Amino acid sequence: MCGIVGYVGEKQALEIVVAGLRRLEYRGYDSAGVAVVADRELHTRKKAGKLANLEVLLGTDPLPGSTIGIGHTRWATHGVPNDLNAHPHTSADGRVAIIHNGIIENFAELRDDLIANGVPITSDTDSEVVAHLLAAALPVHDGDLPEAMRSVCRLLEGAFTLVAINADQPDLVVGARRNSPLVVGVGDGENFMASDVSAFIAHTREAIELGQDQVVVLTRDSVTVTDFFGEPAPVTPFTVTWDASAAEKGGYDLFMLKEIAEQPKAVADTLLGRIDRSGSLQLDDMRLSDAELRAVSKVIIIACGTAYHAGMVAKYAIEHWTRIPCEVELASEFRYRDPIVDPRTLIIAISQSGETMDTLMAMRHAREQGAKVLAICNTQGATIPRESDAALYTYAGPEIAVASTKAFLTQIVACYLVALYLAQVRGNKFPDEIRAIIAELADMPSLVDLVLDTAEPVRRLAHLFADARSVLFIGRHVGFPVALEGALKLKELAYMHAEGFAAGELKHGPIALIEDGLPVIVVAPSPRGRSVLHEKIVSNIQEVRARGAVTIVIAEEGDEAVAAYADHIIRVPQCPTLMQPLVSTVPLQVFACEMATVKGHDVDQPRNLAKSVTVE
Ligand code: G6P
Repeated sequence: MCGIVGYVGEKQALEIVVAGLRRLEYRGYDSAGVAVVADRELHTRKKAGKLANLEVLLGTDPLPGSTIGIGHTRWATHGVPNDLNAHPHTSADGRVAIIHNGIIENFAELRDDLIANGVPITSDTDSEVVAHLLAAALPVHDGDLPEAMRSVCRLLEGAFTLVAINADQPDLVVGARRNSPLVVGVGDGENFMASDVSAFIAHTREAIELGQDQVVVLTRDSVTVTDFFGEPAPVTPFTVTWDASAAEKGGYDLFMLKEIAEQPKAVADTLLGRIDRSGSLQLDDMRLSDAELRAVSKVIIIACGTAYHAGMVAKYAIEHWTRIPCEVELASEFRYRDPIVDPRTLIIAISQSGETMDTLMAMRHAREQGAKVLAICNTQGATIPRESDAALYTYAGPEIAVASTKAFLTQIVACYLVALYLAQVRGNKFPDEIRAIIAELADMPSLVDLVLDTAEPVRRLAHLFADARSVLFIGRHVGFPVALEGALKLKELAYMHAEGFAAGELKHGPIALIEDGLPVIVVAPSPRGRSVLHEKIVSNIQEVRARGAVTIVIAEEGDEAVAAYADHIIRVPQCPTLMQPLVSTVPLQVFACEMATVKGHDVDQPRNLAKSVTVE
């Protein structure tokens, strides 16, 4: 969704705001804009398209120097991406500028009232009304923007992060949030606010989480947080554990390439410090008591996109290791089907960003029914872990490329840790069995490394199939969600028709899609696992080949049985069945990334997508 930055301090605000936007561009990239106050006048520049377009405009039509500024990258909801609909939006008198992330659900009614009062509306957005409402509220509140903001927030329905500046108060930036992200960065003689910490990490690692329905006022030397009625609100400071270099490309051409390469470390970091001297699992951010975990009668995993696929993988391990029934549900569907949830239900909400609105709303619904929620999240201070009963962080570091890679692997690992913890607390497994599985997990970083080192043939395959109209992915058991994830990556990045299927389901319909030359990527289970699974996939490969498909088989080292039926084979190292997704997903990420590169697409910022989707 949209990216937001606000700055007040001693330095040139524009440079800081634009650099912050560059780091937030992954959130939305269909238009961008900035506003500063100089000599008690407001100055804005905004432009449709990527941030680079705005930078060109700022070159030809520069802004005056200023030490206060706001900036926005947009992912359109209301109104097409054009210059007019880009943020900031200003009041009719040009004194107030606002930027907004989210959706103002009652904007139509508010806009009609404004029009009835003769206020000219210039854009098609829901956001513009806020600028006009602030301008109208200012005289009522002695020209004080923080007071005006609180009063306007009380009128708004929906989800919003708002940041505003006022030409008549050139020493402060005001932010507000409801169900949409905003964090504060605390500097020395300067302060920041942004959608996430990456926007200000180059300047400070000291941050403050904001709660729901809060207004924050920044000056150079102060941060004041209140609720929408002006009552002081408690704040939670935190220190960001990574530094600016983690949010840069570090020598790679693409964030996605860097993030794929970081997977061994991301997996290792997610495992770090979780096992105590006696070999028992320690999840110190687990705020649920053993008694609560022993009482769990059902697990429901809720998530979206790639995180949902991680949840699908996790289901196999959770049920196998804990014998607790586990459902996996798309967060956007969950609360609309009247799910059966009670205080003995454990909800696992998986979200890289911790801000996905569908997931947030689903977990809130579950909590209202008395369920306990455990968040698996990659972003400190995000809303989903904050509102959960327990949080387990994946230490993947910032994921900037829109298509998720390292988050997926670490989400699987984190889910496995939760499953083992449940098994430990509930006595489903002996300590030595848990230790053996932990040892298998600990081997995974080096095995993922091996896959990365041998990925060249995968790249060649992407070139070979660049003209394919469609690509199918099939898998069984944990290979099924891997197939779904492989197809999702190809859709997201290469804009190709791609579908993932449970291999056994093929004959019940999708096999009709097979035609001469159609590439089918097969995620083959290990022949050392349940042999029946392996035998079945061999039959499935033969079925599609008999109908003209070209098969690309991901098979473990030493699996000669599938080799005979594979037109192309991609080898992955041997590992236990439940660990296989951690190695077999990686070639599919590389395949999609290379395919998008061959086709000349923007890999890190694919069309129509946003990294963190903060609207339903
Ligand atoms: C968006 C992103 C996906 C991501 C999904 C869930 O759709 O484009 O890459 O998997 O959101 O995001 P989350 O932050 O909740 O894991």
